[in-house]
Amino acid sequence: MNAVTTRDVRARKGGTPLVCLTAYTAPVARLLDPHVDLLLVGDSVGMVVYGLETTLAVSLDTMVAHGAAVVRSSERACVVVDLPFGTYQESPEQAFRSAARVLAESGCHAVKLEGGREMAETVAFLTARGIPVLGHVGLQPQAVHTQGGFRAQGRSQEAAEAIMADARAIADAGAFAIVVEGVVESVAAEITEEVAVPTIGIGASARCDGQILVTDDLVGLSPSSPSFVHRYAEIGGTIDDAAARYARDVRERAFPGEGNVYKARQAAGGAG
Ligand code: KIV
Ligand code: NA
Repeated sequence: MNAVTTRDVRARKGGTPLVCLTAYTAPVARLLDPHVDLLLVGDSVGMVVYGLETTLAVSLDTMVAHGAAVVRSSERACVVVDLPFGTYQESPEQAFRSAARVLAESGCHAVKLEGGREMAETVAFLTARGIPVLGHVGLQPQAVHTQGGFRAQGRSQEAAEAIMADARAIADAGAFAIVVEGVVESVAAEITEEVAVPTIGIGASARCDGQILVTDDLVGLSPSSPSFVHRYAEIGGTIDDAAARYARDVRERAFPGEGNVYKARQAAGGAG
């Protein structure tokens, strides 16, 4: 089991900000693991890796497969796997069955699920039965059709109070931390001040106990990214350049070169 536990994450409330990133694959998990406290195998895998328009079609099998790859390729970070749409909203029992499968088959530490007050009973049910839960309030991509698209939440006083109540309910139900996505700064600040567990922001200002980003946005592998992202690298440009030079070399027969060719063994003079 990896070194950073959900209890360690919980204990970071108000301390040095938690560093979190998404990971879906072995090579990326290996590269990120030394630098982060938490790796999230997000259901954003559906959009980022599989080219889907929303996260709604992502299956539990997909989350288990990517979760296992990330667990196998990390030793330090706390690994959390998203429960996808339709695998937990029906009842606490359904959520337990899905979460138990994810924990048992991927080897991750915890699951994340989206939702507020309506999911509090489920969070308590899982936590009491050995499954740590990371909450997720504010912009909920699985609720894209009821939230009116991928848009910032909590802009009105009424909406701000609703998100506040959601965060409080999820924290009181026993979540070890809460992702706060796409909310205005004042809402993030108020949640962070009022709830006893760490808030992990994405598009939610610096007034949180930690930050998370989609790694493909961070490294410039996605064609474009939302304005709250800072792209720390432009890997897409590096891949584009490598592919262009490879294509030119193949067409000009400059690749494979001398050093890239298997050679027959020399006819042996003596014993060999
Ligand atoms: O799926 C995901 O990547 C997420 C993060 C953006 C929090 O839920
Ligand atoms: Na997600």
